[in-house]
Amino acid sequence: MIKIGIAGVRGFSIVEAVKRMPDDACITAMCDLSESALEEAKQKIGLSDSQCYRIYEDMLANADIDAVVVSTPMQFHVQQSIQALQAGKHVMCEVTAGVTMDELWWLIEAVEKSGKIYMYAENYCYTPEVQIVRAMTKAGMFGEIYYGEGEYTHDCRDLVMHNGVPTWRHYWQMGTRGAFYPTHSLGPVMQCFDDDRIVEISTFSPGCHNAIGLRGDDLTQTMCRLASGKLVKIRVDTISPRPHCMTYYSIQGTKGCYEAARGLGDVAKVAVATEDNGKAYEQWRPLSDFEYMLPERYKSGEGNEAGHGGGDYYIVADFINAIKTGEQPELNVYKAAEWTSVALLSQLSVTNGGRAMTVPNFRKNMPYDEKIIKL
Ligand SMILES: NC(=O)c1ccc[n+]([C@@H]2O[C@H](COP(=O)([O-])OP(=O)(O)OC[C@H]3O[C@@H](n4cnc5c(N)ncnc54)[C@H](O)[C@@H]3O)[C@@H](O)[C@H]2O)c1
Repeated sequence: MIKIGIAGVRGFSIVEAVKRMPDDACITAMCDLSESALEEAKQKIGLSDSQCYRIYEDMLANADIDAVVVSTPMQFHVQQSIQALQAGKHVMCEVTAGVTMDELWWLIEAVEKSGKIYMYAENYCYTPEVQIVRAMTKAGMFGEIYYGEGEYTHDCRDLVMHNGVPTWRHYWQMGTRGAFYPTHSLGPVMQCFDDDRIVEISTFSPGCHNAIGLRGDDLTQTMCRLASGKLVKIRVDTISPRPHCMTYYSIQGTKGCYEAARGLGDVAKVAVATEDNGKAYEQWRPLSDFEYMLPERYKSGEGNEAGHGGGDYYIVADFINAIKTGEQPELNVYKAAEWTSVALLSQLSVTNGGRAMTVPNFRKNMPYDEKIIKL
């Protein structure tokens, strides 16, 4: 039985999942600076007063936990993840992984030194739609994929103030230049490129035109070049006034393509050559025609009530499984660092006319001079 402590209210997203795995995991502690969040934890999770903490360090020192879900604002992620690892706890951490390049190296070093599991909670990789497309990719139905797109358009302007006081998002999400929240756009697309990695990025923006004094770009377009030479383009847009569309993806391969829905009755669709019709890629078909490609565990429906079509369940299941087997999960610290570094390097790129920035190779044990930001 893995005992989990949650830091930050966003961690409630795992509550339903954990309830569905009563033999494997339970939530035994909650930490949040806000008293009302702790009250909510008592109601939602059934925790007692002594299982609720306002101070993170107190939870680490005193709670009966094997693992921590770090769901506080992003500027605390690396510090709190490292503290948990050093206290001998496994970590599942919300997006993004960190807010400076140095932090990403500290995090990798701490994970390697601790021998504990670190999982990046990039939940968009777990939606049923993304899972179907990934399975079709693996089965070669799109041929060789050479281009992908991801878009996160989510007007978050209402979240920058709370009771007249700027929130963390005023600074770290929308007060920061570049594509500062890129991993929902990148993760699901990058999973279609196997172990290819991002080696170079270039970010452009139309500038800052919002009327409420946010320093962030209205939106950014970032081109990512992969080691293979293939391309991924992402749009991150948390300021523009427009309907939400947080899960737009497209991929293009040698046998066909996929495009997610963008709104107003649109549906997710694919166009792929088939064995009996080499030109079948000329016609769109709804992605639902390929639901049979959904992984078996999603078909079984064991976690499908847990939110995001079951995604919130399977991400926790993979975390618990990683702890049990001692094998780092697919969404490991190296991917967390690589995908997060796109945000951090995009700041330098966008403020320097879209200058191409080299992405360090986080996955290998590189010499020190390979870990620096190159201009
Ligand atoms: N994966 C997703 O789909 C998704 C969705 C929303 C948010 N997030 C991520 O989750 C994180 C939190 O976002 P949110 O929307 O819940 O923010 P929020 O501001 O609504 O909540 C943050 C909570 O953390 C608490 N907190 C702040 N500092 C703390 C500290 N040092 N110790 C303990 N508690 C502390 C606050 O009291 C608050 O309850 C962010 O990193 C965000 O990027 C991810």
